[in-house]
Amino acid sequence: MHLLSITDIDVPTALALAAKAKAKPQQFSHSLNGKTLAAIFEKPSTRTKLSFQVAITQLGGHFAEITGAHLLNGHEDAHDTANTIGQYADFLLARVHSHGQLEELAAHSPIPVINGLSDAEHPCQALADLLTIGELKGKKGVKVAFVGDCNNVCNSLLLGCALTGIDISVASPQGFGPKGEIIAKAAAYAKDSGSIIDYTCSPELAVKDADAVYTDVWVSMGEEQKAEEKASAFAGFQITQELMALAKPDAIFMHCLPAQKGKEVAKEVIEGPQSAIFQQAANRLHVQKAVLLMLANHKAEVNA
Ligand code: CP
Ligand code: NVA
Repeated sequence: MHLLSITDIDVPTALALAAKAKAKPQQFSHSLNGKTLAAIFEKPSTRTKLSFQVAITQLGGHFAEITGAHLLNGHEDAHDTANTIGQYADFLLARVHSHGQLEELAAHSPIPVINGLSDAEHPCQALADLLTIGELKGKKGVKVAFVGDCNNVCNSLLLGCALTGIDISVASPQGFGPKGEIIAKAAAYAKDSGSIIDYTCSPELAVKDADAVYTDVWVSMGEEQKAEEKASAFAGFQITQELMALAKPDAIFMHCLPAQKGKEVAKEVIEGPQSAIFQQAANRLHVQKAVLLMLANHKAEVNA
């Protein structure tokens, strides 16, 4: 089993296991004794890298980052890279530009491949977000508003909400909303879970009655050349205190981080009392543990 999309994992089981690992970390301290998590990062990372490193260590295993992997400059293909890493390690975490490259690694990998962010999805982030929303807002009748660029983070969040019965309203400028393929997938899951999903170009409409207001950077890693175009397209999409005031009075503000303060979010909001950003970041650790345990197929712990 690989975790390339949030739809690859049983989300309620992952969230329950993450909550258990958070409440009783000592119960899992030998669960992955002697296991190695190898990692390739094609782009910078603070949270994903460190939370996985700490997670595997606290489960009794080791983290081994391959800096300068030949794969990254085209000197070795996915077939040989994945098969070689599988001779030493038990999991492969990869942050790559192209989701296709991740799929290629997974297709050849004898060990589970984990998406540490691609251009299509950020499943581990969305799991931590769902855990945070559950902790702060419960599970019933919850509405999330995503305002901004519907990229990797938005895609996984949208699918995660659709899978778990959370309502989500996505507001993006024309041309920056979710792609048809994601909309179709989310609609199919929402039919089963009862989620209400809508898409709009109006941040004000999206945040109405929201329990959580979420945003991400306008310019993702690797698309710096689009900075000017995006700054003008996203004018009016900043999460300000005025916009937060249109959500529920106790609404939380969420961001995957890293953030560009003064661009997609006002400094007063992200650093203000409604901000849940560090609880999200903290939950990355517990969710990574759940992901590793589930991929290692630790049935006893998963079902306990
Ligand atoms: N949110 C997130 O994935 O952060 P990093 O880029 O620091 O890993
Ligand atoms: N959308 C952002 C998320 C970073 C965690 C990016 O891809 O850069």
